[in-house]
Amino acid sequence: MKRNKSIIATAVLFMSISLISINAFGQQQVKPWPVPDEFKNMKNPVAKGEASNKAGMVLYTKYCASCHGKTGLGDGVKSRTLKDFAGDFSGSYYQDQTDGEHFYKTRVGRGEMPKYEGKLTDDDIWNIVNYMRTFKK
Ligand code: HEC
Repeated sequence: MKRNKSIIATAVLFMSISLISINAFGQQQVKPWPVPDEFKNMKNPVAKGEASNKAGMVLYTKYCASCHGKTGLGDGVKSRTLKDFAGDFSGSYYQDQTDGEHFYKTRVGRGEMPKYEGKLTDDDIWNIVNYMRTFKK
């Protein structure tokens, strides 16, 4: 009898642990963020390549890495203080979006994601958008 009780207690303990980890994983999901069509289909005016990646890297490191992490995994030093997960830029959820979607979200911001319109020029943002493509796994 005593033995059965401890088996049940162990099972309950494991169940709670797995529920807690499912919940923690749930918080890693990014809420859908609709982007107007004119931005979604916007043509990136800045050519991709080494020069753009270099310019983008300097800006990304200065303005974005504190939250998004050096390689875009959402693990920057500030990420622990954020309520929302900043996203994993190496994965398909991010990489399957158009350049225009990345441009729009960076320009406009939402919640804890700052708005960069007025802080960075459009060309700066496109360079960062190009650089963030290099995070693709
Ligand atoms: C203070 C922390 C912080 C900084 C700094 C920051 N971001 Fe973010 N960013 C976030 C958070 C949090 C989200 C998720 C917002 C949401 O989904 O509501 C996000 C979301 C994004 C998204 C949308 C990702 C997706 O998968 O749809 C893009 C693109 C983005 N950020 C680009 C940038 C760029 C580029 C910079 C620098 C110029 C930057 N961010 C700086 C916190 C930050």
